[in-house]
Amino acid sequence: MGSKLTGCGSATPSLSISNDDLSKIVDTSDEWIAARTGIRNRRVLSGNETLRELSVQAAKKALEMAQVNADDVDLVLLCTSTPDDLFGGAAQILSEVGCTNAFGFDITAACSGFIVGLITATRFIKGGGIQNVLVIGADALSQFVDWTDRGTCILFGDAAGAVLVQACSADEDGLLGFCVQSDGNGQKHLNCVSSNIESILSKTNGVPSFPPKKATFSRIEMNGKEVFRFAVRCVPQSIEKALEEAGLPASSIDWLLLHQANQRIIDAAASRLDIPSDKVISNLANYGNTSAASIPLALDEAVRAGKVKAGDVIAASGFGAGLTWGSAILKW
Ligand code: ACO
Repeated sequence: MGSKLTGCGSATPSLSISNDDLSKIVDTSDEWIAARTGIRNRRVLSGNETLRELSVQAAKKALEMAQVNADDVDLVLLCTSTPDDLFGGAAQILSEVGCTNAFGFDITAACSGFIVGLITATRFIKGGGIQNVLVIGADALSQFVDWTDRGTCILFGDAAGAVLVQACSADEDGLLGFCVQSDGNGQKHLNCVSSNIESILSKTNGVPSFPPKKATFSRIEMNGKEVFRFAVRCVPQSIEKALEEAGLPASSIDWLLLHQANQRIIDAAASRLDIPSDKVISNLANYGNTSAASIPLALDEAVRAGKVKAGDVIAASGFGAGLTWGSAILKW
């Protein structure tokens, strides 16, 4: 039994915030942000827009491209750290898409979430009885950004992307190799912790406060330099391991598609893998770091622009909070 990607879709909020807009609220500039990150604009939820709506739009587009009816979907995986409902968003989304026969649940692995979702989809398909899995990567980190912190607020945007993974024969298999890893020792470098945990940790005279305060999540905290070093070190290694599992050399990669966090991270990984820049997919200039959405969003744009064609081999890699990271070698 194999599994392959047969459709993709994406959706972004209407409000676009440029680097110049940000320079009016924090001490920064278009030149600094563009030079250090490659980002020029990001989309941010506003008004009545919700992440759920973006996810539904992306999922419907993926089904339309794959020409699969919503009621033929068996499983919906919502990869997100920022669901509209703390208890999970997959159930509501699958109902709104019309997946009347599907079960769904959320996967939280920050910016690696979409890769973890792809692996989970293939494992369910290989287990048997599952034909069609919608994998949605969606995040709205703008809600957890401290918009007075120039070190982080310049980086993030909101979006949703989706793919349909379908069961197929082993010789048509399009998900060729995977590698996924975690290291909680690096959590201190990138996190957004519950304020409840903070109040428990800040106990008075050794006695935790009780009843605990109503929990909210505080702001994203990041040591950018450490995260940068981690990504540049771990992403190429992870892609090499996934290539090894796929039994393919790096020269077989048609497209390098990394989580869109920073152009300098993407360039460094491409250089270590000896992949030329014309084989690198990048759209972070327009959207910033959209966390679990960034890989399916960039894939969708590249497919619809006619860049990625049937049979192309894509090395995709996600990395971020946890710390978590993972790679997948895909055939489109
Ligand atoms: N505008 C102007 N100056 C700034 C800004 C800004 N927006 N931000 C920081 N600076 C200043 C700093 O204050 C510092 O000034 P100083 O030298 O006077 O102290 C100087 O610029 C250098 O700051 P650094 O933080 O050392 O800058 P760096 O080159 O490391 O770039 C950046 C920062 C862009 C955040 C980089 O470290 C990075 O991209 N790291 C990876 C981050 C990442 O990918 N995170 C997301 C992971 S995905 C997930 O899981 C959510």
